Amino acid sequence: MQNNLCNIAVLISGNGSNLQSIINHTQSGHINANIVCVISNSADSYGLARAIQADIPTQVVDHTHYASREEFEKELVKTLKIYKSELVILAGFMRVLSDFFINEYQGSILNIHPSLIPEFPGLHTHQRALKTGETEHGCSVHFVTVNLDQGPVIIQAKVPVHDSDDPKTLAERVLEKEHIIYPLAIKWFCQKKLSCKNETVLFNDKSLDKPIMLTAAHESELQ
Ligand code: GRF
Repeated sequence: MQNNLCNIAVLISGNGSNLQSIINHTQSGHINANIVCVISNSADSYGLARAIQADIPTQVVDHTHYASREEFEKELVKTLKIYKSELVILAGFMRVLSDFFINEYQGSILNIHPSLIPEFPGLHTHQRALKTGETEHGCSVHFVTVNLDQGPVIIQAKVPVHDSDDPKTLAERVLEKEHIIYPLAIKWFCQKKLSCKNETVLFNDKSLDKPIMLTAAHESELQ
């Protein structure tokens, strides 16, 4: 194993299609990282099977086994420390994290959210975008701060909303973009091109005044 790889841990709760994309781009060498551990809060997550298939260590930290959010998060932090994780990637992790956890990994937690932040924080984003008649929708990768789904945004990708869409077809179109922008942001973090200071994203040492919008040139960084 090369020693300049960034140690990354991926936290999941479900299917893990974003995890799969991160695994693929790590294996192909596009992301200069070592996935040290995949942690799920549910033993049933299909993402665990994806990790096992890729020979990545897995851990289940089931929130229902802990008396409080703090106890649960202390176990998460303990596990992340055992694996010497330098970057925490939330990929469909369905637990809200408190200030305790976020402060422990300040500036080193990324999340992907299926909307164009600041639009539609929270759940059921595709359904809500259809309901309000949006013509464009998308996804965002952001640093996690104490404001749920509202941390500083690194990169976004847009998709059109079609008249014939239902939440499922729209989610599929958005997911295709998630599988590109998340590996890209992780790649940049691992290359030390990306950081977060005082709620601002720094890209190549310059503050971003607005999120990067995915272009074909960016996509070629993963090919
Ligand atoms: C994705 O839509 C992600 O944006 C959201 O949860 C979903 C997870 O999907 N946070 P998957 O488990 O990566 O397939």
